[in-house]
Amino acid sequence: MTDTHDTAELLHPDRNLAMELVRATEAAAIRAVPWIGKGDKNGADKAAVDAMRAFLSTVNFDGLIVIGEGEKDAAPMLFNGEHVGNGRGPSCDIAVDPIDGTSLTAAGRQNALSVIAVSDRGTMLDASSVFYMDKIVTAGAGAGVVDIDRPIGDNIRAYAKAVGKDVGDLRVAVLDRPRHEQLIADVRAAGAGTRLMLDGDVAGGINAARYESRIDMCVGIGGSPEGITTACAIKALGGFMQTRLAPRNDDERQKAIDAGLDVDRLYEADDLVAGDNTLFVATGVTDGGLVEGVRRRGPVIRTQSIVLRSGSGTIRTISADHLRSKWHLES
Ligand code: FBP
Repeated sequence: MTDTHDTAELLHPDRNLAMELVRATEAAAIRAVPWIGKGDKNGADKAAVDAMRAFLSTVNFDGLIVIGEGEKDAAPMLFNGEHVGNGRGPSCDIAVDPIDGTSLTAAGRQNALSVIAVSDRGTMLDASSVFYMDKIVTAGAGAGVVDIDRPIGDNIRAYAKAVGKDVGDLRVAVLDRPRHEQLIADVRAAGAGTRLMLDGDVAGGINAARYESRIDMCVGIGGSPEGITTACAIKALGGFMQTRLAPRNDDERQKAIDAGLDVDRLYEADDLVAGDNTLFVATGVTDGGLVEGVRRRGPVIRTQSIVLRSGSGTIRTISADHLRSKWHLES
């Protein structure tokens, strides 16, 4: 029997799917644990990819990877264009980032996350031809106030006014990269404080969009895949996000144009991921401002995850204890 409710569940990612997907990010985070601080980012990534892949194959959905780990020949795991899931249930686009912060994990630093984002089939922009994207993310109060094309100082002053804060109290997250030297100087010259991130601008963007977090704004150039993933979360959080593709050279610019992308266009969250049904799930690999990392306590492995659904506008933090003996972790 197919009633309207059943049909809707086939077409759209549903609430049960979110809970299924969190098992995949939990598994990826748990499998990455033995690699934390071991100096091998590829080893950590592979462990997380393998775990995520295994769990995804059991999930009730037909997921098309739009944002994956790489092209088929370059990275045989979770590649763009691959179908994941058991083929039953809703048809979705999916972005996977088994570890956002592979270098953080390898170094034993904070803020590494395992991430999956999902939207209705055909709604996720495939921006994989361009490695980087310029981004500005705030809470919803930034809409109509903040503009990626304006100087950062103007944005800081306008946003501080909109949220009723002193400019001096505003905290702006920026990836700590040489390319951001001027941006960082401009943030400080405006009177705001920077929160420099070693890696992981997905967490930075989400923190900026959450009203109660310790970051007010996340700006600068980061990965395009991470931009799409972040957009799924921003839609669920009611946040504000503007981006523009940032091709590294003429060759990449041409590849983007050939792929049907507009390198001059301003892409907001709704342009990166269309529609009203996004899910975002993330589990902490190492401790961070968003969630805690995996903890091993005696016979138990504890994970902390967030699950965001744009359909309902809910933010859930899920803590799970997993019996260690079931996971056969070697260290
Ligand atoms: P990986 O863990 O996949 O390497 O990504 C980490 C990250 O910091 C992203 O969060 C960010 O968008 C991107 O790398 C920035 O790229 P780059 O390190 O080249 O500046």
